[in-house]
Amino acid sequence: MSNKTVFDLERLALIAQGHSAFQLLWAGAELKLYDTLCGSPGLSPGAIGEALGLAEYPCRVLLVGLTALGVVEKRGDAYFNADLTERLLVSGQPESFTPVLGWQAHIVYPGLQDFLESLRAGTNLGLARFPGEGTTLYQRLVAHPALEQVFQDAMSALSNQANRHLLAGYDFSRFSHLVDAGGGDGTNAIAIARHYPDLKVTIFESPSVCEIAARNVAAAGLADRVFTHPGDFWTDPFPCGIDAILFCHMFTIWSMERNLQLLRICAAAVEPGGSVLLFNMMGDDDRSGPLSTALGSPYFLAIATGEGELHSWSDYEQAMHQAGFAEVKRVTGLPLNHGIIVGTRRA
Ligand SMILES: C[S@@+](CC[C@H](N)C(=O)[O-])C[C@H]1O[C@@H](n2cnc3c(N)ncnc32)[C@H](O)[C@@H]1O
Repeated sequence: MSNKTVFDLERLALIAQGHSAFQLLWAGAELKLYDTLCGSPGLSPGAIGEALGLAEYPCRVLLVGLTALGVVEKRGDAYFNADLTERLLVSGQPESFTPVLGWQAHIVYPGLQDFLESLRAGTNLGLARFPGEGTTLYQRLVAHPALEQVFQDAMSALSNQANRHLLAGYDFSRFSHLVDAGGGDGTNAIAIARHYPDLKVTIFESPSVCEIAARNVAAAGLADRVFTHPGDFWTDPFPCGIDAILFCHMFTIWSMERNLQLLRICAAAVEPGGSVLLFNMMGDDDRSGPLSTALGSPYFLAIATGEGELHSWSDYEQAMHQAGFAEVKRVTGLPLNHGIIVGTRRA
C-alpha cells in the first residue's frame, strides 16, 4: 500500500490550525452545544447564545468555526447537528466520543507541547507536565485521580466503539479462562463475559484501576466470574490455569523489544494450546499509515512512555514467532483501522 494522501492547501490549513479545529470541537462539547441542538434542532444563533451563556461575538466565532468544520450544519438562520455529531458527540449516546476529547484536552494537548523536544531527546519529556512517581503516564496518573478518571473514561469510550469489532472478529468460545491484561475499567471484560456466559475473565491491572474495574463489574452483576488481579504484569505473575491472554490497546505502549519480552512472559503463562490475542489499531506493513494510527504515535513518544508507537502488523507477527507461538494468525478488515493477531501455543 503506498501513501495516497493528497497534500493540498486545504489540508495544509487544517493541519497548521489543527489546534483551533480541536478547541472549537471541544468547546462545543463543553458548552453543551451538541446536546442543545439535539434537544432543540434548528435554533437561531441568538437562541444558541442564550442557551450556552455566550455573547453574540464569541457565539458567532464558535458557530462559524463548527459550521466550516462540518460539525454543525447551517440552513438559513437555523443550526443543526451533523449526523455524526448527533451519534458521537451528544452526551449519553452509547457510542459517545466526548470522553476522548476530554483526554485530548487535559492530557494529550498539554503533553504534546513538548513534542519537538521529545523527538530530539528520543523520550517522553511531555510527561513532566504530570508530576509524580514513575516514568510512564500510567504510573503518574495514580497521583492525579481526576485525570486518571478522565483517562479511563476515554479508554472506556474508545473500547465501547472498538470492542464490538473484537467480539465480531474472533470466536472466544474455545477458551475457559481469559486474562484481560491492562483491562482498564473493565469495559472489555464485561462485554466479553456478557457475550460468553461460560467464560471466566480476570482483569490484570494496577491496584487503583482494579478498584474502578471491580466497581463496574459488580454494577454489571458479573462479580461471580469476572475478577480483578491487582499487580504489574512485568513483575507479578499471571493467574494460574489460564488459556487466553488478551491485550486490548496495550502493545502500542512499548517498544517492540519490550513487547517481545512480554510475549515471552505470556507464552510461559498460558496453558499449552492457549493463545495470546493482540487487539488494537494496526499500522500498514509498508509504514505509510493509516492516518489515525500514525497520529497516535506522537502521544506515546512524547507523553505516555517515550517508547511506544502504533506498530505494524508484521512487527507484531514477527515478535509472536520469536516468542515461540507455533501458530500466528491475523484478523483483518475490522473497522477503525483495528485488527487482531492471535498467537497460539502448541497443545
Ligand atoms: C491504553 S489503556 C488500555 C485499557 C484497556 N485495555 C482498553 O482497551 O480500554 C492501558 C491500561 O494498561 C494498564 N497498565 C499499563 N501497564 C500495566 C502493567 N505493567 N500492569 C498492569 N496494567 C498496566 C494501565 O493502568 C491502563 O489502564
